[in-house]
Amino acid sequence: MFRTLEDLDVKDKRVLVRVDFNVPIRDGQVVDDTRIRAALPTLEALASRGATLVLMSHLGRPKGVEEGARLRPVATRLEELLGRNVRYLACDGPGSQEQQAFVADAPHGSVTLLENTRFDPRETKNDPQLARILAGYADLYVDDAFGSAHRAHASTEGVARLLPSAAGHLLEQELRALSRLLERPERPFAVILGGAKVSDKIGVLSSLLKVADRILIGGAMAYTFFAAQGGSTGASLVEEDQLDTARDLLRAAEAAGVRVVLPVDSVCARELRAGVATEVHPSDAIPDGMMGLDVGPQAVAAFREALEGTRTVFWNGPLGVFETPPFDAGTAALAKTVAELPAFTVVGGGDSVAAVNASGLADRIGHISTGGGAALEFLEGRTLPGVAALEG
Ligand code: 3PG
Repeated sequence: MFRTLEDLDVKDKRVLVRVDFNVPIRDGQVVDDTRIRAALPTLEALASRGATLVLMSHLGRPKGVEEGARLRPVATRLEELLGRNVRYLACDGPGSQEQQAFVADAPHGSVTLLENTRFDPRETKNDPQLARILAGYADLYVDDAFGSAHRAHASTEGVARLLPSAAGHLLEQELRALSRLLERPERPFAVILGGAKVSDKIGVLSSLLKVADRILIGGAMAYTFFAAQGGSTGASLVEEDQLDTARDLLRAAEAAGVRVVLPVDSVCARELRAGVATEVHPSDAIPDGMMGLDVGPQAVAAFREALEGTRTVFWNGPLGVFETPPFDAGTAALAKTVAELPAFTVVGGGDSVAAVNASGLADRIGHISTGGGAALEFLEGRTLPGVAALEG
């Protein structure tokens, strides 16, 4: 087990906190601050106990210094949410001379947000020298970046091994909610998986087949399952190299007594464009030249029926092309259904979380995970390097 904030004496100490502020930014503004808000309990707890905070995060996947990937918009939003000054220096990234001087000058009790950790190529290589520079910024290390816990990087795994460290409230809360799915789910337990590719979800599907009672599959990956059973999927996205895997997964589900629900019908179009003319077809009889881009009305009704009476639900991934209306409708309908269930519900992944937020019912979800990839890897049963380093 790892230490938590309660185990650290942070008064008058400098605390380096890894947060995951990898948030969507448009025109210099943070458009979804869910991840920033999620870190506030940890930051406020540390600040109220007399710590000086040095925060670090990556943003996007820049190759070296990129103007569009600077953390300034995040610093501005964090300042609004915390209601106090956040020091930020636009520089070449972690370990630069300017940054070292800026951190050395941090007044007692201040909050400093470091520039994008990925501006330095040593970050993703988990370079020990960079980890040592970062460790030199503080007395203690707190990891609250659940969304990055599956990455063994200098600012996550590397630095955790060099300073007395602990998990922040968010990391702790995420692990508790996700463990509840694997260890003692109240039954029936339904898993809803969407997204484009079976190949991205094989690990989690195989793992959750062992604990779930029902598995609902949406998104383009459903067409690989239909094609695997001999259906006509028109021009829909099908992963030809995953047909055997899809058949194996269906067989394994049957052997385990898990009910698999595929979307019986689809909203189809000839091209993917906002506002394009659509037709509804059975998902295993999509005409040539048309592609399935969202689940259809019968599928939505069948999903709703399959979720009735469930006591635990995990949902990751959109049911259609969520960013292109009208193909967001199935995902939006599901968000409402999931939020209204009298069950312990966990939602993870960017589009599913965005749909839940847009439904206005986010406060009725048991746990909204800030980690897409990290949550899936955890549920696959894999060790998260960021968490393992805290236990060492
Ligand atoms: C995420 O958004 O899933 C995390 O911040 C990790 O980002 P990455 O996939 O670029 O490592």
